[in-house]
Amino acid sequence: MYYSEDLIEEVRMKNDIVDVISGYVRLQKKGSSYFGLCPFHNEKSPSFSVSRSKQMYYCFGCGAGGNVFTFLMEYENLSFVEAVQLLADRAGVELPKMEYSKEAKERADLKTTLLEINKAAAQYFYVQLKSEQGRIGYEYLKKRELSDETIKAFGLGYSNKYSDDLYRYLRSKGYSEDLIRQAGLISTDEKHGVYDKFWNRVMFPIMDVNSRVIGFGGRVMGEAKPKYLNSPETPVFDKSRNLYGLNRARSSRKPYFLLCEGYMDVIALHQAGFTNAVASLGTALTPGHASLIKRYVREVYLTYDSDEAGTRAALRGVPILKDAGISAKVIRMDPYKDPDEFIKNLGAEEFERRIADARNGFLFSLEILERDYDMNSPEGKTAFFREAARRLIGFEDELERNNYIEAVAKIYQISAESLKKLVTKTAIQDGLAKPVERPKSTSEQKTAKKEDAGKTAQKVLLTWMIEEPKLFQVIGKYIHPDDFTEELFRTVAELMYRQYEQGELNPAKILNHFTEEEEHREAASLFHTKIRELSTKGEREQALKETILRVKSNSIDAQTRKLSPTDMAGLQKLMEEKRKLQDLYQLHISLE
Ligand code: UTP
Ligand code: MN
Repeated sequence: MYYSEDLIEEVRMKNDIVDVISGYVRLQKKGSSYFGLCPFHNEKSPSFSVSRSKQMYYCFGCGAGGNVFTFLMEYENLSFVEAVQLLADRAGVELPKMEYSKEAKERADLKTTLLEINKAAAQYFYVQLKSEQGRIGYEYLKKRELSDETIKAFGLGYSNKYSDDLYRYLRSKGYSEDLIRQAGLISTDEKHGVYDKFWNRVMFPIMDVNSRVIGFGGRVMGEAKPKYLNSPETPVFDKSRNLYGLNRARSSRKPYFLLCEGYMDVIALHQAGFTNAVASLGTALTPGHASLIKRYVREVYLTYDSDEAGTRAALRGVPILKDAGISAKVIRMDPYKDPDEFIKNLGAEEFERRIADARNGFLFSLEILERDYDMNSPEGKTAFFREAARRLIGFEDELERNNYIEAVAKIYQISAESLKKLVTKTAIQDGLAKPVERPKSTSEQKTAKKEDAGKTAQKVLLTWMIEEPKLFQVIGKYIHPDDFTEELFRTVAELMYRQYEQGELNPAKILNHFTEEEEHREAASLFHTKIRELSTKGEREQALKETILRVKSNSIDAQTRKLSPTDMAGLQKLMEEKRKLQDLYQLHISLE
């Protein structure tokens, strides 16, 4: 970290969270907390709470939460360091020049420099677009009906026909050839030497969630190939973890994203008021994209091209989203090819209607499946339903499966009862009787489930300890920071135990420790894990005991897996731990 923990803590303490958030959200005092409308999701009644005593905020609706730094990171799209700097400024705390370790400095320096180079290139392209040489690009964008405001908002630009003007420009700003190459902006060959990767293209700067330029897409003027050229992956550009338009869509306050295929689609949608549109970057949708999306919304409307390729991409996308816990719907765009064309021809209102009429992802996949069968012949129809049944088995949750069976039966006008029977029969025939467990992977699945349960127990325990510090005494007897098997959890636990020993539990301060955005967010979530409502003391004691037991046995399992077969001392220690665990089962944990 650039600044010492003491200094960060000083900045945090000098910025009261209620005061800071009041600058963004209207808060009203209710009991010991302040409430307001959550700025991170759409809501009509306030579920966003801020606690002055804890110096933390939490939304009961969408689960957003953290300390004053978290809030600014989320609201203003800042990195942790930027949030610290902004609040230091606000409170008049002077920060020293940044200090880094040598290695961290080199890594950070490289990334910072690449981002600087990208930014300079984006500015250069923008200036070109607005100058005489860029007229062809500007006219192209105008022909595609983009307003000057949109061009500016997305930072669109133009790369000249000269083969190395960007390179010369960046050199003149003092960047070395090596760095410009690492930014992905130049190539070299024996005949021409160094030349710009992009030329005679309209340029789309690609930004990360924090609106920093991490790469480019360029559309050629005219019909040359490839139509779109994209930056290669670089230390700052990871295509599978970024989405075009996300920096703007994240604050659109809609509960879903529109996921489309191209840069122009995103821009056209934003211009038409659909500011929740994003696109993957000239690549197929990955699980990485899905988990990125999951941070902001739980629902995605796919608005891919209506051609063969787009349909296939949608079919592939639906299960990837579903696996991440995002429900997918598919928007029909016929008779037009993509959202850009659609909106130009039929307008935003009509598109709004298509959003309302979007089809559920699974039903969409069945609709496409129909094309493979002759639905007019009894054989064809039967074969279709058999395949549909096979797919319905994929819903592991019985309630969900039944809901889908009913929906399919209704659409295809057959009885739900007989479809249900077919599903069961197909399951048995395929050897997948009852719960869909593929025989080979069951043990893997079990381990995965067990690990998940262990992870959840660790989270619950941490939340509990924060909410009720007096539990520390009880828990501390059995659980040590080392028992937390996830690295992040362990770090939080270590910090908490240390604070407890020093007589001050302070979750807001613990969060200071996590300075990378992703980690910070995950750590913040630890303090708000949902805990079942338990009314009686007996129930609470039982639940606490179960959680402690689970964390402990998970920890022993993890140590056992790591143990080398020749480590006799280690083995004995673990046997001893296991014996103690047995004792714990008998014990009564008291909450008095
Ligand atoms: P399309 O060819 O459908 O793009 O490719 P588009 O937005 O409709 O193009 P226009 O309207 O003719 O300008 C969809 C997306 O696929 C990627 C780009 O991200 C593009 O936006 N793509 C396409 C490439 O990366 N390279 C290509 O050669 C073509
Ligand atoms: Mn298009």
